[in-house]
Amino acid sequence: MNQDSLKKATADAAMEYILPSLEKNTVIGVGTGSTANYFIDALAQYRNDFDGCVASSEASTQRLKAHNIPVYDLNSVDNIPFYIDGADEVNSSLQLTKGGGGALTREKIVAVVAKEFVCIADESKKVATLGSFPLPVEVIPMARSHVGRELVNLGGDPSYREGVITDNGNVILDVWNLTITDPVSLEQAINNITGVVSNGLFALKPADILFLGEKTGVRKVVSE
Ligand code: 5RP
Repeated sequence: MNQDSLKKATADAAMEYILPSLEKNTVIGVGTGSTANYFIDALAQYRNDFDGCVASSEASTQRLKAHNIPVYDLNSVDNIPFYIDGADEVNSSLQLTKGGGGALTREKIVAVVAKEFVCIADESKKVATLGSFPLPVEVIPMARSHVGRELVNLGGDPSYREGVITDNGNVILDVWNLTITDPVSLEQAINNITGVVSNGLFALKPADILFLGEKTGVRKVVSE
């Protein structure tokens, strides 16, 4: 199986996992990226078995709407049993780096509101230590240089993602060369920099369950 087939297999496994819990009034949180897109396409087949979705990006909103799936503003929803999304890296504690697609802030908001974060990822995303993938940080535009200097003080090597404006109107710094041995502390330290909107570490609230697509099949993983 190639990487795309593995991504699709994990999305199908997540669909199967949530299916018994779906009710007519269920609202599902949906992430962003190519793996999440496979999940959106799987969800479309069950369109009449749930109410609608809250999406973590404009791109996912458009894809859901193309399938005639209603998309709700998070402020109008008070119960999201599941959030399903991909990741750029995942460790054995199900802590993640995310934001390769630039949607990290809305992803983190929906993930925090949801009761259960179901991560879907192919085996290339599994790592012993987070940090090989450059860590995305969403920044208020006027604070870009200041935040960059502070990220250097934290040991990173930030690079401006040129030409990218997030759905929230901000910019992204991708931080290279971090060996993230204490993801919770680093997530907090970056959050504390004035001008940072959010960062792509999902360690304070990791995923609850992972469907990992391996060549031998999809493995359900819970935190070690
Ligand atoms: C987008 C994300 C994605 O979940 C992450 O980049 C993985 O993407 P893909 O499923 O395309 O490999 O965090 O902001």
